[in-house]
Amino acid sequence: MITKRATVDRWNPDQMIIARAGRIIKKGGLVAFPTETVYGLGADALNPEAVRRIYEAKGRPSDNPLILHVDCIAQAMRLVHTNRAAEQLMMKFWPGPLTIVLPAKTDIVPSVTRGGLETAAVRMPDNVIAQALIREAGTPIAAPSANISGRPSPTDAESVMADMDGRIDMVIDGGSVLVGIESTVIDMTDPQRVLLLRPGGLGREAIEETLGMSLEAPDKTSAKRSPGTRYRHYAPSVPVKVWRITGKFPECDYSSAGYIGVHEPAQKTAGVVLCKDFAEYSRRLFAAFRRLEAKGCNCIIAELPDENSGICEGLRDRIIRAAMD
Ligand code: TXA
Ligand code: MG
Repeated sequence: MITKRATVDRWNPDQMIIARAGRIIKKGGLVAFPTETVYGLGADALNPEAVRRIYEAKGRPSDNPLILHVDCIAQAMRLVHTNRAAEQLMMKFWPGPLTIVLPAKTDIVPSVTRGGLETAAVRMPDNVIAQALIREAGTPIAAPSANISGRPSPTDAESVMADMDGRIDMVIDGGSVLVGIESTVIDMTDPQRVLLLRPGGLGREAIEETLGMSLEAPDKTSAKRSPGTRYRHYAPSVPVKVWRITGKFPECDYSSAGYIGVHEPAQKTAGVVLCKDFAEYSRRLFAAFRRLEAKGCNCIIAELPDENSGICEGLRDRIIRAAMD
């Protein structure tokens, strides 16, 4: 399969290209596209054959459900049973990096899209290209991050091509993403007990303040854990070691090591990606993993943020998962 790559303006995408991408989705093909968080690998969420192709292209376990991307709240309501608290969050934070798990309308959302669960995850991305594509396709778009399963999520079209060239029909290149880590995923099937399944682009405080209650952690054995959080994730092919600014700098051969963080590394390493704040760190994390790995670094040292508010909870989660073995 030849993967077409088409570049568009992020604020004013060429309608001819969006129309072509929309036709591919309607016919059951795969199109990678930018969102504000990371690039998604999209297919018609209501077409089981098309959704199966996503799992194949990514090498993803088929019990790991997909997020349904919508272009308005009304479209989400056709897919899941909402409640008042969920609608309140949709109105406040959509479009944006918040994914909400709710009871699925199982006669509409195919089982393969839900990974066999009775629930479905919905989100409205804050990206003009993504919204135009969903509208043009006329169907919700199921999209995981557009990487080979387990690899760092792609935050630009080059990274998508590195993993997906020859496996999908098209990549829409809309430049580098603005958030850089995936959406925050919450489970609202019980609006009295809202679970934080995956920290991400939207900080938990904003959600808690709107709901007037704390988010709970799913317990370790609960079927309600996000299946995607069971696997090692977001990881380059070389080991990642974590550095806390107050702790000892990790041992490794610094002459071929890479570093990413907001503080100067305590040792001189071969490759350095220095960020001015945690927002920039989040935006650049996955591309830095890929770049340092491609540069031949045999180890990547990542600074672990010493705060846990806002995007830092998600950023810390991604770094810790990448460093897991
Ligand atoms: O920012 C994002 O969320 C990106 C962009 C493309 O939208 N997408 C993304 O998709 O990160 P993915 O498939 O890489 O991660 C989706 C996460 C997984 O951990 C999955 O297990 C969880 O959401 N999830 C999806 N549906 C679920 C459900 N019904 N119940 C529990 N967890 C669910
Ligand atoms: Mg992913």
